[in-house]
Amino acid sequence: MPPKKVFIETLGCQMNLADTERMLGMLDEIDYSPTDNQNEADLAILNSCSIREHAVHKMHSYIGKWDKNRKPGSLIALAGCVAQQEGEKLIRDIRTIDILVGTHNIHRLPDLVLEAERKRRTNIENGVLGAEENRGMHFQRAQVAEIWEALPEDIPEVPIHRKSKYHAWVNIIYGCNYKCTYCIVPKTRGEQRSRPIAEIKKEIQQLADEGFKEIMLLGQNVDGYGLDIGTSLAQLLREIHPVNGIERIKFLTSHPCDMTYELIETVAELPKVSKYFHIPIQAGNDEVLRRMARRYTRARYMELISYIRKLMPEATITGDIIVGFPGETHEQFMDSVSVVREIGYDACNTAVYSPRPYTPAADWDDPISAAEKNDRIRLLNAVCTEVAEERAKRYLDTVQEVLIEGLSQRNPRRLMGRIADNKTTNIDVPSITDASPRPGESEEELNARIYKDLEPYFGQTVKVKITKANPWALRAELQKSLCYAHS
Ligand code: 5AD
Ligand code: SF4
Repeated sequence: MPPKKVFIETLGCQMNLADTERMLGMLDEIDYSPTDNQNEADLAILNSCSIREHAVHKMHSYIGKWDKNRKPGSLIALAGCVAQQEGEKLIRDIRTIDILVGTHNIHRLPDLVLEAERKRRTNIENGVLGAEENRGMHFQRAQVAEIWEALPEDIPEVPIHRKSKYHAWVNIIYGCNYKCTYCIVPKTRGEQRSRPIAEIKKEIQQLADEGFKEIMLLGQNVDGYGLDIGTSLAQLLREIHPVNGIERIKFLTSHPCDMTYELIETVAELPKVSKYFHIPIQAGNDEVLRRMARRYTRARYMELISYIRKLMPEATITGDIIVGFPGETHEQFMDSVSVVREIGYDACNTAVYSPRPYTPAADWDDPISAAEKNDRIRLLNAVCTEVAEERAKRYLDTVQEVLIEGLSQRNPRRLMGRIADNKTTNIDVPSITDASPRPGESEEELNARIYKDLEPYFGQTVKVKITKANPWALRAELQKSLCYAHS
């Protein structure tokens, strides 16, 4: 039998992207290989996000579209945060889904897929469903759903199919113990649970042995790491720092409440740890922060920023801000605008507040009109861009080290990678950018030749000179003489 094909669409954050890699790893063991084409998939999985209403709409529209284009006899699965949030009843509400799995039991996915396949076979054998039936099994209501209330005591280690060969996500903490009044995450990801240091170290050692160069430590609240098992993120960084082969270590996402001076000092001290901090502030006004239940003030947040800047003046700092939280006055909103300028964010994700089910703020009066919220986010975005543009200028004409991940998506004659503090960098390679076909060489042959010339750079750390700097990405030129790859 030819191997079956699985297609996964991932919505939402890095946590979901990491879960998708796990799902692909586990499905490989039951002979499903990945495809980028939903139309040819035997199994299509939507890894859903529920952080904002918009993501939930997207989920419905994907599933509707997939159902219409289904390959005969194929399965549709819903995984991720919406599945966890709504529970098993969702499979009755969305009848086009064949398999429903939550965030706490994704390790059960292969068994659920096999069960769904079995049920389908039985239905066909019993003549309930034609072999060429163009839909899933929902006509028989023989769908498979399993959602767990919490993560299992021992979180199973599962195979991971990593998308990049050089850059790996490593979960260090699951869930979140805060109860910010707008946030669905405690519901979808559960209570905070740290993975033991030894387990994390083992995974990173294996990654290093396989040739991975960069590690991103992941958690909804990475700074909370260890609070439940008597250790800390600073300690973890010290323990993994010596692993040979790993050149860069990053972590994401920080919570101002659990970020310590010790952590900042550790980042400053350890050379392999990127000087990169993603610390959502959410609002610049203390009253709004109080109603969000964020448990810090603007002044406390600024203390952390000052300390980071004191020890690492060049550090990259990014954040998140919510606009139009229920009852946010214009003056309070303007505090968010001023805090962006005061911090000098390199980048800031902004979003209009979206009421989420099961969260306290969803029941609060919200007198601010949608039009007003739109005006506010437009203004805030303009300021964020202006600040980020100003910050980006500091890279111009500097020499940076870039870990090459592959080719630029926009221009396959350029290399693409990231500098240590995470900014995407597209790199011109002098002899290649202007390459033209040799006599008799077709465009295709030229592209193949260029790929062959650029491929040896993949996974290498090279030195580049930054030639253009905008808030989203940098452009650079390869410093041939300094290049590690070909020196
Ligand atoms: N509405 C809008 N934005 C939200 N976020 C979290 N919950 C909501 C919500 N209900 C934003 C926060 C968080 C980021 C991941 O998403 O800024 O840091
Ligand atoms: Fe949500 Fe707040 Fe936890 Fe972040 S800290 S995941 S915003 S509850």
